[in-house]
Amino acid sequence: MTGAALSAYSLRRRLLAWLLVSTAAIGAIAMIDTWDEAIDTANEVSDRVLAGSALAIAERVIVSEDGSLEVDIPYVALEMLTSAAQDRVFYRVDGPPGTFVTGYQNLPSIQRREGQAAAFGDAVFRGEPIRVAALARSASTGINSVPFTVTVAETTIARQQLTHAILLRSALRILFMILGAAAIVWVAVTLSLRPLYRFSEALSERSPDDLHPITERVPNEVQGLVDTVNSFMVRLEGALDALRHFTGNAGHQLRTPLAIVRTQLTLARRSGDLSEVQQAAEKADEAVGDAERILAQLLLMARIDAASRSTAMRQVDLVDLARTVTAEHVPRAAEAGIDLGFEGAGEVTAIVEPILIGELVKNLVSNALLYAGAGAEVTVRVAGQQGGACVEVEDNGPGIPPDRRETVLRRFERGDVSGQGRPGTGLGLPIVEEIARLHGASLSLEDGAGGKGLKVRVVFSVTA
Ligand SMILES: Nc1ncnc2c1ncn2[C@@H]1O[C@H](COP(=O)(O)OP(=O)(O)OP(=O)(O)O)[C@@H](O)[C@H]1O
Ligand SMILES: [Mg+2]
Repeated sequence: MTGAALSAYSLRRRLLAWLLVSTAAIGAIAMIDTWDEAIDTANEVSDRVLAGSALAIAERVIVSEDGSLEVDIPYVALEMLTSAAQDRVFYRVDGPPGTFVTGYQNLPSIQRREGQAAAFGDAVFRGEPIRVAALARSASTGINSVPFTVTVAETTIARQQLTHAILLRSALRILFMILGAAAIVWVAVTLSLRPLYRFSEALSERSPDDLHPITERVPNEVQGLVDTVNSFMVRLEGALDALRHFTGNAGHQLRTPLAIVRTQLTLARRSGDLSEVQQAAEKADEAVGDAERILAQLLLMARIDAASRSTAMRQVDLVDLARTVTAEHVPRAAEAGIDLGFEGAGEVTAIVEPILIGELVKNLVSNALLYAGAGAEVTVRVAGQQGGACVEVEDNGPGIPPDRRETVLRRFERGDVSGQGRPGTGLGLPIVEEIARLHGASLSLEDGAGGKGLKVRVVFSVTA
């Protein structure tokens, strides 16, 4: 793993992004709410002052002798208002409907609801937004009373400033909270990731052949990863062991024929007798043949291991393939005095890697020719069956006792034939098993017909 690959995706940044996005969304909702509340609060505060002024004016409304209304606006009534900011104040007094008494005649008034003495509202005056308060009263002459309305309005600079101040404060509060939470996440992630860093340090400090389980203490959430790595290391250890065992055995297998070749060459060099030299050459040739066979099996084994990663599977006619392999072995069968036959007709197809299946059949036929003994009968059989195909190699030789059938599937395991000078590595049947496994096919070693000899069955379950 490279640093570049890691930095492409950072847990810390991801968590922070989540936090920031979600708190920003919540903050925005809170701000909208605060905005509403700030406007209400500012209105409430200054509406009270507006109402006060309207009341102060109303108290100075009197009915003159001719029955008309007169107002003596007290300076303080307006002073109350103008103390705040640069706001300007307007007023008007109206008498009974339709009669204007004093003030700004164009100042918009607001409709009061029935029975309501005071009302507040927003309007625009001279192109400026204003807040308007209207108060209904009546002045009394003692005989009759004259109704009138006092309207007081004020530009909204002060209340806007108040609203903005409230908003700014709450925005700052939210921002501070978000930054605080981000800092906490930053620190928390750093602390929480520490066990992971220790875990990766523990891994990187190891020598490559140290595959002991990691015992570093980690949080529960990471324990799964550690368990997976540990179980992977156990499997790796197993695979490495198998590889060491395999190469050790393979080296040993090759050393024997090579030692024979060397001995025979030394003999030939020292001998002055031509027939002795020829005899040595013959033995050396045989040993080279053995070495060749061993190498071929080893290479085939390696090839299967590679094939398990990439296979060239395709639809193949098994009848044709097995018949060809059988035909190739006819001369050797004749040499060994064995009757080699083939059974199978038509076309039985399966999705397989043809070279590997060829090797599978070759190994089984070679075994039968090698171990069944002169005079035996060997039959290669291919048959289609429900949802699959079956390849069999059957002989009527000595067979393999049931309790040995599992053993001979292990690498380098040979029967008692090895003592009888028959060349072999003990890799044939393991190779057959590996190839079958690679194809998802089942392999079974059974008695031959009449309980005599050996029948090896490979059943491919998926056909095309
Ligand atoms: N058809 C058979 N009849 C009797 N014994 C058999 C037969 N096939 C295999 N065996 C026994 O099983 C053993 C293992 O066979 P396998 O093919 O794995 O190895 P090998 O033939 O000894 O060596 P290799 O095939 O690698 O050259 C053989 O040594 C032999 O004892
Ligand atoms: Mg063999």
